[in-house]
Amino acid sequence: MGIDVPPDAGRPRAGVARVPADDVQISPATPDEVEHLLAASRHAFAESLARHRGLSPADAAEKADRDTAALLPDGAGTEGQVFLAARRGGDLAGAVWAAVQGPDRPDAAWIYFVWVAPAGRRRGLGRRLVEEAATAVRTRGARYLQLNVFGDNTAAIALYESMGFTVAAQQMTRPLTEG
Ligand SMILES: CC(C)(COP(=O)(O)OP(=O)(O)OC[C@H]1O[C@@H](n2cnc3c(N)ncnc32)[C@H](O)[C@@H]1OP(=O)(O)O)[C@@H](O)C(=O)NCCC(=O)NCCS
Repeated sequence: MGIDVPPDAGRPRAGVARVPADDVQISPATPDEVEHLLAASRHAFAESLARHRGLSPADAAEKADRDTAALLPDGAGTEGQVFLAARRGGDLAGAVWAAVQGPDRPDAAWIYFVWVAPAGRRRGLGRRLVEEAATAVRTRGARYLQLNVFGDNTAAIALYESMGFTVAAQQMTRPLTEG
């Protein structure tokens, strides 16, 4: 499912966002945190590919690795990337990966992955990470934020819808059986 969001949708709205735990700080991710985030992103993508496209676990992992590498031709230092980490004490509590697009689409940015550690979910951190990523890409010139989400990821879809994202395109599938 492709989702578009208007430029102001990432801004906090009074009375909507839960106040996250005060002890969580968000700032640019360290190289180790970026590696952790990219590993989590590849893993989640591979699992979804295996589930939705019938790929073997090995083929799904290979495609997830290939697609991720294609987005990062110069690694984590690829121009336009935004990697933010949320930390509680010394522990990684969540992270987000976003990127502004190249010169052909300077007004568009993508969120590629947002992740919150399971023990800290439903406390507003996912929303806060997306808001901070939206602010980061907006200050770099983006006016639209887009993302893809698999149709069975109800938590992520609920998060994005609660922040004003709307469906821009929808990919549908059904198995073909002999008959
Ligand atoms: C999706 C994810 C980032 C949400 O993080 P989170 O910190 O739990 O989200 P928040 O607490 O900010 O939730 C904000 C709103 O999103 C919606 N929401 C989030 N999780 C939900 C769930 N499991 N069920 C229903 N609604 C949910 C709710 O509207 C929620 O507001 P509320 O708690 O006041 O009702 C988290 O579940 C996660 O890391 N999932 C695994 C990784 C993943 O799938 N990432 C997305 C890839 S596209």
